[in-house]
Amino acid sequence: MGELRNLISMQDLDRKRIDQILSVAAEMEAVAVKRSRILESKIMATLFFEPSTRTRLSFESAMLRLGGSVLGFAEAGTSSAGGKGETLADTIRTVERYADVIVIRHPLDGSARVSAEFSSVPVINAGSGSEEHPTQALLDLYSIKKLKGKIDGLSISLCGDLKYGRTVHSLGMGLSLYDVTIKLAAPQALRMKPAIIDEMKKAGVNVVEVDNVEDAVKDVDVIYMTRIQKERFPDIREYDKVKGRFRLTSEHLPLMREDAVILHPLPRVDELDAEIDNTPHAKYFDQVYSGVILRMAILKMILT
Ligand code: CP
Repeated sequence: MGELRNLISMQDLDRKRIDQILSVAAEMEAVAVKRSRILESKIMATLFFEPSTRTRLSFESAMLRLGGSVLGFAEAGTSSAGGKGETLADTIRTVERYADVIVIRHPLDGSARVSAEFSSVPVINAGSGSEEHPTQALLDLYSIKKLKGKIDGLSISLCGDLKYGRTVHSLGMGLSLYDVTIKLAAPQALRMKPAIIDEMKKAGVNVVEVDNVEDAVKDVDVIYMTRIQKERFPDIREYDKVKGRFRLTSEHLPLMREDAVILHPLPRVDELDAEIDNTPHAKYFDQVYSGVILRMAILKMILT
């Protein structure tokens, strides 16, 4: 296996590489507490053209825990790309001269791939349009393995906005490399794209589709809930038709397996009731911390 250079899409990773990343992440649990100086000479640039709390701050926390330095912007409007119309290519050609690795979130599908083509330093995709969010998928796989002790043999429900949700696209691709059953649970208008379902089936995954929360939560080990991505709808009237339609509440708890865990990439709006937070099923804030651990592993693998 060669070195990990860029991290753009889950499609670029095979199972051996994902298992390697999860294994390095497990080593990072102790390092995250003790701290390290292994990236002392390195600088990470975070270019966030879209809002973020978890992804940007966990990347920064990961870099700081490894002794590295960080710079960047959290809002496109404060950069020359947003304020003056500079191209993405010129932005990357500039930032590559300031940093050893570029972490980019951008509203356009393909933006991370294009950035990597213009960059002489490694590029990490922190969310590209509605297409992909690979580091989220890797931290989700890490969370599942940490909570369940394995990934093979599990049944997992991906729920909510499967059309515009980039986390479920990347996670579906990653899970396809394991021996799992995937339940796709979404309102009809927000079904997973048929091309991605075909890829999952081609990979040998048993895929089941349902269109309601009751069926989504039954007979599975992991329930992965997602927000309806209001900002991605081309027509707000289409969003109004589906908003509030897919909500997980305490009424669904008796339908779930006793040891089922609920994950969510966050942020949430109304799709995951806060009254679930104090139940043993709720693992989404532990999942947030796995974001730091997993991103420490990625930065270590790319920069050393
Ligand atoms: N899960 C996730 O991408 O969260 P943020 O949008 O807060 O980064």
